[in-house]
Amino acid sequence: MSAELVRRARDVKQHAYCPYSKFRVGAALEAADGGVYVGTNVESASYGLTICAERMAIGAAVADGGGAGTRAFRRIVVATDVDPPASPCGACRQLLAEFGLDLEVIAVGPRTERRWVLRDLLPDAFAKTALLP
Ligand code: THU
Repeated sequence: MSAELVRRARDVKQHAYCPYSKFRVGAALEAADGGVYVGTNVESASYGLTICAERMAIGAAVADGGGAGTRAFRRIVVATDVDPPASPCGACRQLLAEFGLDLEVIAVGPRTERRWVLRDLLPDAFAKTALLP
């Protein structure tokens, strides 16, 4: 696992816009073609509009428009300022699942890390196969 991906997640965390929660999150998503896409949380005075770091990183990868290689993801690092490190929320798990359940998910805090495979974080995921049998 690349130290570079951890560095990118921690760096982008510093750009978080989180005046309400003060909870900074940074995400770095590595695509199959080696590209790295980052995201951070953006909050709103209308709280429910908040965007999570992970979903922003997915959006950056898709918006890059590089084709299949930029939409097949190998791993995501999610950086927060807490130990044990926070895992991705349910909404982010679901959107990550859209692009494959074999994704390695790595959460890093200031001192510790946790690792999973997405399929273990989202068992019996709702999937496109339900819509496109
Ligand atoms: N947050 C994320 O960015 N990702 C997650 O997976 C969970 C929560 C953000 C949303 C909000 O800005 C702050 O963390 C506190 O919930």
